Parts: sequence; structure tokens; C-alpha cells
Amino acid sequence: MVSQSHTFKSSTSKPEHYVCAQGEGSIWNFHVVLEFWNDYTKDGVCMASEKLMELLNRGIARELQVSIQYMWQHVSVTGVESVVVEDIFRKIGITEMKHAEEIAERLAYLGGKPTTKPDPIFVGGSLKEMLERDVKAEEEAIALYKQTIKVADEEGDVTTRRLFEEILGHEEEHHDTFTRLLTE
Ligand SMILES: [Fe+2]
Ligand SMILES: [Fe+2]
Repeated sequence: MVSQSHTFKSSTSKPEHYVCAQGEGSIWNFHVVLEFWNDYTKDGVCMASEKLMELLNRGIARELQVSIQYMWQHVSVTGVESVVVEDIFRKIGITEMKHAEEIAERLAYLGGKPTTKPDPIFVGGSLKEMLERDVKAEEEAIALYKQTIKVADEEGDVTTRRLFEEILGHEEEHHDTFTRLLTE
């Protein structure tokens, strides 16, 4: 049974949700079950799969990216329209930083390690260039968070699902704001 334990530890294809879905599988001895349990639980409570935690970390990297991106757009935008849009960039940038914090808190609770590395940041030159990239960034966020909600729902993780449903609503508002600014 010890060799089974080592096989599991070195495997890259862990049977996700094993403990959560099936409890102590009869083919495993106590020590192997305990290792499963330690990988997937905290204090005996089912936490999250690696797949879901990876999605949360992708969300954090994205939120860090756009919070910096919008902040720098806020300080660097020029021209007549900048009077209107600079405050929009600032406010949305602050919202994105709060999203990063909320997702990181959830991931830490689930037993994961939040990334400190943002996705590639694009500030842009003209306002049109900035807004085009921001619309794209929001579209990517919407797609990623719909996927995260789906996986959280499949795992019965109501709290993570609700968190991302709320964040998704914000991202759709941002997408709408940037899209309307781009077409004005
Ligand atoms: Fe966000
Ligand atoms: Fe957003």
C-alpha cells in the first residue's frame, strides 16, 4: 500500500473530488486515504479541486493585470475626453483590485496559494487603443468567470459560485461602459 501512496503522490492526474465525492474508497488503506484527505480538505471539510483553485489563480492574475492597467490609463490618458474617462479608469481600477483581494481571500481559505504575478499589462497610447484593449480584457474576464462559476457549481462550492456571480456582474458593467465609450 505504501507504493500506491507514492504512485498517487507523483501522479499528475489526481482523481479529482475523490474524497469529496466518494469518501474513503475501499481500495485504499487508511494512510492513503489520509493523504487524499490532507490534499483535498482542511479540518475535515471538503475544500476545492486543483482545477477550481487554478481557475481562481487565473482570476487573480487577471484582476492584478487590469487593476494596474486601468490605473496607468487613468494617469496617462490625454486629450479632451480624458476629463471624462480618467475618473472612470480610476474607479474601475479600484474595483478590480478589490476583486483580486476577494478572490485571493477565497483561494487562501480553500488551501491554495494566491499568485502575485499579473497577466501581461497593456496601457496603450490613444484613448481608442486603450478602450479596445479594455473591452477585450473584460470579455476575457467574463468568459473565465462563467467557466469558474460552472466548475464551482459542479463541485457544490456555493460560496465560490456566488462570489464569482457577483464579480461577473461587475465585469459585465465594465464591458458595457468601455464599449459605450468606444462607440461615442
Ligand atoms: Fe474584476
Ligand atoms: Fe472589470
